[in-house]
Amino acid sequence: MSFPITRMRRLRKSPEIREIFSQAKLNKEDLICPIFIKKGLKNGEKEKILTMPDEFRYSIDAGVEYLKDLEKKGLRSTIIFGLPLNEEKDSVGSPAFDDDGIVQQTIRRLKKETNLVVISDVCLCQYTSHGHCGIVEDEKVLNDESLKYLSNIALSHARAGADIVAPSDMMDGRVLAIREILDNNGFEDVLIMSYSAKYASNFYYPFRDAACSKMAFGDRKSYQMNISNSSEAIRESELDFIEGADVLMVKPAMTYLDIVKSLKDEFNLPIATYNVSGEYSMLKSAISNGYLTEDAIMETLISIKRAGADLIITHFAKDVLEKI
Ligand code: PBG
Ligand code: ZN
Repeated sequence: MSFPITRMRRLRKSPEIREIFSQAKLNKEDLICPIFIKKGLKNGEKEKILTMPDEFRYSIDAGVEYLKDLEKKGLRSTIIFGLPLNEEKDSVGSPAFDDDGIVQQTIRRLKKETNLVVISDVCLCQYTSHGHCGIVEDEKVLNDESLKYLSNIALSHARAGADIVAPSDMMDGRVLAIREILDNNGFEDVLIMSYSAKYASNFYYPFRDAACSKMAFGDRKSYQMNISNSSEAIRESELDFIEGADVLMVKPAMTYLDIVKSLKDEFNLPIATYNVSGEYSMLKSAISNGYLTEDAIMETLISIKRAGADLIITHFAKDVLEKI
């Protein structure tokens, strides 16, 4: 009956036809570029990250220049990760809430010198001597005690001028704690992008090398989500929504696209997705070995959009900005 009246290939017959019928599209403004800023590097200096091809840790100065260059190519937003000096790390992550800390200084420069939307990652792991995302006692990560420190980090980022704070610790109640401290200090307009569905993933491995945030003991499975679970992602996101999150997030991206889709269907909130370090390095190394071509990058990003992501945090921003 339907053949040959219905011919699906008519919709694919030329590049122009294919283009006007394309559904998921990647826009420059969908991309959030992560950057690692390291204290102790000299002005203008950058340092290769061995587990992440073509990625670097930057001094403040070099990082700001790099982002300015990407802004010229159409980048609209960045998320900043700070690396303090090793000897500054302590059990409560003090360099994280220092108003003159590495992230705070970077935020001030970016707000002065660019028009980028500046997002700050709010966590303790790069700043604690034990490498966990919260306050630790007897090798246990304490939830409520951690909230005080996390909210102080967020406040100090807001004071420096962050547009959006993004808590990535996965403690319970942190979105409300952060919303309260921000509102009580006159930062009602600072957005919270919550890493609401963050899984205890193996794909963070290169990041921990890049950010020098490996744990001294244990793992993050008592606070990050069980990789087997999907309805829990809805509960986590629902709570963050109720606590006042402006944006929800799924992390990682490629292996969690089912979760992206269900969050998009469930919530009337913007959904961000984190295309993490391991996803980046996996594709980059396959491309440099000749197992894949560069086009696999665009396919990956489009598939994340197709699943329902509004925003994508991705180290590929620099690779694709000039192609879209
Ligand atoms: C920790 C944090 C992690 C990432 C960002 N912030 C992972 C972790 O160590 O649990 C991962 C990002 C990436 O892999 O690209 N708060
Ligand atoms: Zn952390």
